[in-house]
Amino acid sequence: MSYISVDRVFKIYGGRQGPVEAVSNVSFAVEAGEFVSILGPSGCGKSTLLMMLAGLEATTAGAITIDGRTVTSPRRDVGLIFQDATLLPWLSVLDNVLFPIRIMKGDLATHRQKARELLDMVGLGDFHAHKPAQLSGGMRQRVAICRALIHDPHLLLMDEPFSALDAITRDDMNMALLEIWQRYHKTGVFITHSIREAVVLSDRVLVMTRRPSTVVCDIRIPFARPRGRDLGETLEFNAICRTLREHIEAGHRRDRAA
Ligand SMILES: Nc1ncnc2c1ncn2[C@@H]1O[C@H](COP(=O)(O)OP(=O)(O)O)[C@@H](O)[C@H]1O
Ligand SMILES: [Mg+2]
Repeated sequence: MSYISVDRVFKIYGGRQGPVEAVSNVSFAVEAGEFVSILGPSGCGKSTLLMMLAGLEATTAGAITIDGRTVTSPRRDVGLIFQDATLLPWLSVLDNVLFPIRIMKGDLATHRQKARELLDMVGLGDFHAHKPAQLSGGMRQRVAICRALIHDPHLLLMDEPFSALDAITRDDMNMALLEIWQRYHKTGVFITHSIREAVVLSDRVLVMTRRPSTVVCDIRIPFARPRGRDLGETLEFNAICRTLREHIEAGHRRDRAA
């Protein structure tokens, strides 16, 4: 059995203007240790899907199973990273990283060392006493990554974590995330609009269509790890990006024809 199994999941929101079908019959599986990206246009239900994986939204129909258990409520063994770092401005970088431990009433003393190690790894070792306002956007997002890893979750769920960053910082963050992956061996679901980012980071890329959305393709990314910046310049990399783009465009054409 797969680590994550999403089985014929639907999500219909009740709205004032009538129901909105955000996710329509989505099924896929993720194996333990895999990094899977989900690509799709805005409003196609990607965040909704991620919230259902995190147990923060209920499915309308279908089932999500993680590690043998049906998801019915928020899970502790999940780390979440959003587009905005959502740090607490009055806390230091170190205390922001430790915040989940405080909430879960864990042992702060032992986790303080772990937090320092995580900050070192993402290049923020000298910034542990800084406040979020003193950091750049990329640095804040690195803090958010450390915060998501502090309780050593098996699963990382990431919702367009680098979309608000400039292109150069975004490339740096992609490289940082690859390193983290190499080192910590988590399972990951990563949402993005960027085809190249998805291919750089992932073992598999799923494409979702416009709403009501479903998964239209599931492509395996064959590149060995560790991966570096030069990967994006290879012919094979660009051929995979082209294939994904064609699937996305075919999805758009189907929508217009419908
Ligand atoms: N809490 C909600 N109530 C009603 N509709 C919602 C809610 N959250 C999202 N939606 C709608 O569901 C659709 C999918 O949204 P979302 O999952 O945020 O898409 P994405 O992350 O792909 O941009 C959109 O049409 C959005 O307006
Ligand atoms: Mg979203």
